[in-house]
Amino acid sequence: MKIQSMKLVCFSPTGTTKTIIQGIARGINQSTVELIDITKPDARKQQLQTSENELLVVAVPVYMGRVPALLIEWLHAIKACNTPAVCVVVYGNRVYDDALLELKEILIKRGCIPIACAAYIGEHSFSSSETPIAEARPDASDLNQAELFGRKIKEKLLSVSSVEQFSDINIPGNYPYGGITKLWSVDFIAISNECTQCGICAEGCPVGAIDSENSNLIDKEKCITCCACIKNCPQNARTMKPGLVKDASMRLNKLYKERKEPVFFF
Ligand SMILES: Cc1cc2nc3c(=O)[nH]c(=O)nc-3n(C[C@H](O)[C@H](O)[C@H](O)COP(=O)(O)O)c2cc1C
Ligand code: SF4
Ligand code: SF4
Repeated sequence: MKIQSMKLVCFSPTGTTKTIIQGIARGINQSTVELIDITKPDARKQQLQTSENELLVVAVPVYMGRVPALLIEWLHAIKACNTPAVCVVVYGNRVYDDALLELKEILIKRGCIPIACAAYIGEHSFSSSETPIAEARPDASDLNQAELFGRKIKEKLLSVSSVEQFSDINIPGNYPYGGITKLWSVDFIAISNECTQCGICAEGCPVGAIDSENSNLIDKEKCITCCACIKNCPQNARTMKPGLVKDASMRLNKLYKERKEPVFFF
């Protein structure tokens, strides 16, 4: 079947999910492409509508083994009509649990027909120079895998004449889903005197938890511990305070050193 256009949807506070979806898109090599980056709160105000002639690729990071809870409402508002869809999760070399199954089932409920699913590895949000976890991933090998996955998606689309010909894809996972949807509500960010109040961290925060006038003010009830503000600060003024998140980063650094590889399902 011929696809007229492709919509790429991603949520990516620290950028790894976006890098992966762009790699997949290179492999699919579709001329008309729209990137819908729903990382910032304003982008999630707009609903998504798709049709049978479009390919929808949705990529999200794994948070506590699940699709991030803050995306559920937006994902459940997608309007699709037999839209062929690709489901992608990106995780920090620990485990993706049932997140891929969860994403696939949400998209089916919205009217999509999943034609391929994949789980990739990205540098863990909690990774730091002292406690690296899947540092610098996705790397060249991951991106080759992403492009290969994209080429296989294209082949699969060309192998049928209509969406009805696609059969269900078997992916690992169980319902009720494991993992946790309630994230930690913690005051975990230390801010040094190097801060110039440039506002970059507030601008990039996916939940608007940082005061745009005073970056020292963080709403811990809103914060999802994504660590984007720590990783994006040009002054390296933000670090993890001792506590829950820093302990987790040390634990993950110790326990998940062995490299995991991307997997895909057709
Ligand atoms: C709150 C939170 C929970 C996470 N839970 C998991 C997890 O259960 N398993 C895992 O391997 N990685 C986990 N991660 C790591 C992210 O899935 C991973 O770093 C991903 O690449 C981040 O995507 P991004 O760069 O697009 O923000 C978690 C990260 C955060 C912030
Ligand atoms: S990005 Fe860094 S320097 Fe800029 S306001 Fe935030 S903490 Fe301060
Ligand atoms: S304040 Fe929290 S949610 Fe906002 S960027 Fe920093 S870690 Fe992420």
